[in-house]
Amino acid sequence: MTANNLQAVDSSSIVPAYIYDQIADALADKGYCIFDSLLPGEITETLYQYVSSLSSGDYHAAGIGRQQQFHLNHTIRNDETLWLEEENATDNIYLKWMTNLRSEINQRLYLGLFKYEAHYAHYEAGAFYQRHIDAFKGKSNRVLTTLLYLNPDWKEEDGGELLLYSSSEESTNEVVERVLPTYGKFLVFLSDQFPHEVLKANRDRYSIAGWFHVNS
Ligand code: OGA
Ligand code: MN
Repeated sequence: MTANNLQAVDSSSIVPAYIYDQIADALADKGYCIFDSLLPGEITETLYQYVSSLSSGDYHAAGIGRQQQFHLNHTIRNDETLWLEEENATDNIYLKWMTNLRSEINQRLYLGLFKYEAHYAHYEAGAFYQRHIDAFKGKSNRVLTTLLYLNPDWKEEDGGELLLYSSSEESTNEVVERVLPTYGKFLVFLSDQFPHEVLKANRDRYSIAGWFHVNS
């Protein structure tokens, strides 16, 4: 299916309302939820085809912090990233889907989410991202993190697990979830509540990381 076909699909009609209830309940109860698969298969497939078609030159070395604080630090992360743009037909499919998710979550939790940004991330064999928290202190803070994984046939021995830790206290090291980045898996979590890290991947690993912001 092409990107153009998919744009005609009304994403709100694809996911039944009870799924959004589940997401909202899970966020309110424990602060995160994980689906082995959530997006319509055609969308996942289109995104997968797209990331597989990208070459290293299409990405940028991932940095830490933003604007003036932005810097490259390969001891913390060494993946490469590419921001999604509304003007790109494939990116737009995902961004629209997230716009819908935002309104469904806002209707249930009154989080006041108003903006979404996302990037593709490519971890080459050997790449990792050390423990960090996604929420920056600033004007437009990240409230919810989303992750979609695009790795067919990912196995235990391929590494690259996402570890979610239980608390923002640096001293606590309890892993609440150990997530294999398998094809179609989708996560949402409260950005300031869950430090997380990506363990070293043993082969190419693709994800889309995104963030809903509030306007504070
Ligand atoms: C990030 C991040 C995790 C992943 O980009 O902030 O934590 O699994 N990514 O790609
Ligand atoms: Mn992160």
